[in-house]
Amino acid sequence: MNYRHAFHVGNHADVLKHAVLLFCLNALKRKPAPFAVLDTHAGRGLYDLAGAEAERSPEWRDGIGRLWSWPDPPPLVARYLEAVRSFNQDGAPGVYPGSPALVTMQLREDDVLMACELHPEEHAGLRRALPRQPNVQVHGRDGWAALSALLPPAQRRGLVLIDPPYEAPDELALAARALGAALKRFGHGTYLWWRPLKSESALAAADAEAQAQGAKEMLRADLWTATPTPEGRLVGSSVLLINPPFGLEDELREALPFLAEALTKGQSGWRLSTN
Ligand SMILES: C[S@@+](CC[C@H](N)C(=O)[O-])C[C@H]1O[C@@H](n2cnc3c(N)ncnc32)[C@H](O)[C@@H]1O
Repeated sequence: MNYRHAFHVGNHADVLKHAVLLFCLNALKRKPAPFAVLDTHAGRGLYDLAGAEAERSPEWRDGIGRLWSWPDPPPLVARYLEAVRSFNQDGAPGVYPGSPALVTMQLREDDVLMACELHPEEHAGLRRALPRQPNVQVHGRDGWAALSALLPPAQRRGLVLIDPPYEAPDELALAARALGAALKRFGHGTYLWWRPLKSESALAAADAEAQAQGAKEMLRADLWTATPTPEGRLVGSSVLLINPPFGLEDELREALPFLAEALTKGQSGWRLSTN
């Protein structure tokens, strides 16, 4: 496990993933019944944008950095910026909240976060980053196994975020299979599955596998900010929503062209599709 999210934090992929995550959390809060969030690959929780890793690879400057002072962004982006700004009371981008930190700030008293992080250092960092409260559970367990072990949640409603590092070449196929086990246990939950936009055929196969595993309603949003390079640098990402919340498709339709233009480094673009 060599991947460290600190090198990529706040980039275009985090912008898309975290803006969609916040929409989903707000949608769950439309109803008073408590919900649970399972974050299978949680990361460190809080990232220092002036820290050694983010300084060495300041991808955030072309991500959240470009959006930070944008005057009137679309609602999906505005909600995300407001959440990230709330971690930076002095008004400048200094701390970036990862998914478990964003979830924690949205929890009501009876809502629950189950965050899994397998890497010992990242896990220790996550424990330090999140507040100690009974509804925030940090696990040092394998996120793939958690998709069976921790589902369905006692609350019977909620969100599953699947955001692996894709270090292993077969991680896309592994995720699609693990999703099947989760869907059997918690078929009506909302799933947010982040994927790198590298091979369209691999993604199409993953989508088909998700459908074969029982995913019925799917919404896929792709955003790329430059043309692919021979070195294979990540220039785009794709989020697949299973059981997407009402209203997300409309907000994405407005936000994606905005993000493609605001974050462009050449040939940017976007795509939104439903099954
Ligand atoms: C892309 S990062 C997560 C970023 C985070 N979800 C966010 O949005 O802020 C992936 C994380 O998964 C962790 N990881 C890798 N394999 C894992 C596994 N099998 N189970 C749980 N965590 C794992 C890595 O150490 C890394 O911190």
